[in-house]
Amino acid sequence: MLTGYPKKVRLQSGTSVTIRPMVKEDADKLYAFFSRVPREDRLFLRDDVSIRDVIDSWTQELDYGKVLPLVAEVGGNIVGDATLHRRTFGWTSHVGKVRLVIDKDYRGKGLGMVLIEELIHIARKAGLEQLVAELMSDQTGALSAFKRLGFEKEAVFFNYVKDQVGEARNLVVMIKNLRIEPAMVLF
Ligand SMILES: CC(C)(COP(=O)(O)OP(=O)(O)OC[C@H]1O[C@@H](n2cnc3c(N)ncnc32)[C@H](O)[C@@H]1OP(=O)(O)O)[C@@H](O)C(=O)NCCC(=O)NCCS
Repeated sequence: MLTGYPKKVRLQSGTSVTIRPMVKEDADKLYAFFSRVPREDRLFLRDDVSIRDVIDSWTQELDYGKVLPLVAEVGGNIVGDATLHRRTFGWTSHVGKVRLVIDKDYRGKGLGMVLIEELIHIARKAGLEQLVAELMSDQTGALSAFKRLGFEKEAVFFNYVKDQVGEARNLVVMIKNLRIEPAMVLF
């Protein structure tokens, strides 16, 4: 499933980026990456990434079968983090959840698209049929980006989640279908 990594890609700007699965030695780089995420974005992330223990738990408890984190690296710095979360049993075993964060200086350059395409490729190889992204309705830029990345808004749960300062927000569930429909094969 992870053959072909590390992989070098070139963004339209000409920047060369290395894409690879996260390893436990990434803890410092990952903490530095999340420390650079603007406060207004951190507010909406699922976990409090300003806490070092949170980052350490991700890098020390790696189990690619459950959570596959891909990092994008430029000049030794992590500039993007995309994760594919899955359960291998039960009624959502065909569904993967994705989370994606790009360094502010590297946004709008196609890197989010590159990482999502990598996760789609891996998810298809793992037999997953749908990808789900969960966002808050206030994340208007990210909602537009995920739409451009092929995700459709499927449901809104009003005041269902709380941001990092405890304020209730609407949860938006977006889904991308990975199944290849027969019509797609014909045309
Ligand atoms: C959302 C996010 C991951 C997008 O990453 P990115 O690298 O900037 O995305 P890309 O450059 O690959 O753009 C992908 C598409 O989305 C569009 N897009 C990106 N940011 C956008 C924005 N703020 N508003 C509208 N459209 C946007 C791009 O134009 C592009 O569409 P195109 O191919 O038609 O040109 C990034 O903004 C981010 O890290 N946000 C903070 C974290 C977050 O909110 N994550 C989502 C929760 S999982």
